[in-house]
Amino acid sequence: MIVCHCHRVGSAEISRLIAGGCDDIETIGERCGAGTECGGCLPRLAATLRESHGFGAASPELAEAS
Ligand code: FES
Repeated sequence: MIVCHCHRVGSAEISRLIAGGCDDIETIGERCGAGTECGGCLPRLAATLRESHGFGAASPELAEAS
């Protein structure tokens, strides 16, 4: 599933980057470009980071954006 349409970055790549040590949105953006254009994918990136650290979605709005 594509997460960042601006840079054509999928959820598998985001998960791979997080597993490889990228632990914030800025680092993910530096590595693959996700979140560095329109910003429309930032809620999904944030939710994925929280979920990967066991915190779950912070709000229903972000969960819906997922
Ligand atoms: S959809 Fe990710 S920066 Fe636009």
